[in-house]
Amino acid sequence: MDKIYIINYLANKIKAKSYLEIGVDQGISFKDINIEHKVGVDPFSPYPGVIKEESDTFFKTNTEKFDIILVDGLHHADQVYRDIINALECLNLHGYIICHDMLPTNYDMQVIPFSSGMWTGDCWKAFVELRQTRNDLDMFTIDTDMGLGVIRKGKQTLLDTTDPINYFHFSNNKHKWMNIVSLPDFYKKMGEKDVLKALLNHYIAYPNNPEINFYMGVYYQGIGQTASAVSYYLRAAERTYDDLVRYECLLRAGMCFDSQGSRNNSVEGMLQHAVALMPYRPEGYYYLSRFYERAEKWFNSYLIASIGDKVANRVPTPLKTDLDYPGFYGVIFERAVSAWWCGLCEESRNIFRYLLENEPLNDVHKQAVLNNLNRIG
Ligand SMILES: C[S@@+](CC[C@H](N)C(=O)[O-])C[C@H]1O[C@@H](n2cnc3c(N)ncnc32)[C@H](O)[C@@H]1O
Repeated sequence: MDKIYIINYLANKIKAKSYLEIGVDQGISFKDINIEHKVGVDPFSPYPGVIKEESDTFFKTNTEKFDIILVDGLHHADQVYRDIINALECLNLHGYIICHDMLPTNYDMQVIPFSSGMWTGDCWKAFVELRQTRNDLDMFTIDTDMGLGVIRKGKQTLLDTTDPINYFHFSNNKHKWMNIVSLPDFYKKMGEKDVLKALLNHYIAYPNNPEINFYMGVYYQGIGQTASAVSYYLRAAERTYDDLVRYECLLRAGMCFDSQGSRNNSVEGMLQHAVALMPYRPEGYYYLSRFYERAEKWFNSYLIASIGDKVANRVPTPLKTDLDYPGFYGVIFERAVSAWWCGLCEESRNIFRYLLENEPLNDVHKQAVLNNLNRIG
């Protein structure tokens, strides 16, 4: 639970002296928060010293102000909304409100009431409502520990959406709706000059947290240290409960091996594994078919692109990071290229023509399609 790490990090930044936790439960976070004065509120918590009241009752009579407030009580949107509004009333000027469980990764995780398994509730709806209505707040969500919403007094451009506020639209738009920031971007936002050092400190404190492993991988891959990146991706893939993160780790590990050269078996293995894990997503088909194309394994390339073209979702939910994936037309493009080399000339020609007339090709793909059409007539 690296929300403890983030809270202590923010507390240290603003030299926080007072802390309020709404929803303490066993005190797992509460006991490890390094702030002088701590108040916990939870009607059912067995933790010593906790005020045994519902948050609404507590806020009615509370007169104290706090530097950091964790909203982690009843995970129902209306209650979370009230908790945040009440927390804002007793937040010191430079203080932070942290809201846990803001990024559910599937529909069932956020259905009220709780039934079983990993559950976040629909707290995200409260956050979205404030993103739409409160331009006097600065709000973002750190992509770690099931989503840590961060709120401070400041300003934001209001979220403008006409989509219904339901899980389907949330999952397709959560980066915008929740203003998600990656861990490296969070540390940059906090003014850290040495982001790698900040990430490493986080990693040392929580080495089994999947997100920090994932973002360490992204960082190392970004500076060309692909061997280190692969080991972080594999650690993240082994530790996450979320297949989509695992999928992204496998794709990225495949790309790292690819950039090392002479690691074709590893590239192929990573990409095949990604496709097997999420056969309805298109990116894996694109990279695997392209890999076979470059290795001149035309039938493999055609097989993979054709399956992808038929079964994969054209507009999948967004991944955490940009993988340089061109869009679904990339799968179709690979099918056209490999079809030609497999002797399926008419099919290849028709697909290239279709791509030119119908798909929003980037400059590189547009030129490649034109070159291919010139060559094959
Ligand atoms: C997810 S747990 C809290 C976990 C804890 N913050 C931690 O990090 O270890 C949610 C807690 O909220 C408490 N809770 C439920 N309704 C509440 C309410 N209206 N006000 C305050 N706490 C509430 C529950 O008793 C439960 O212990």
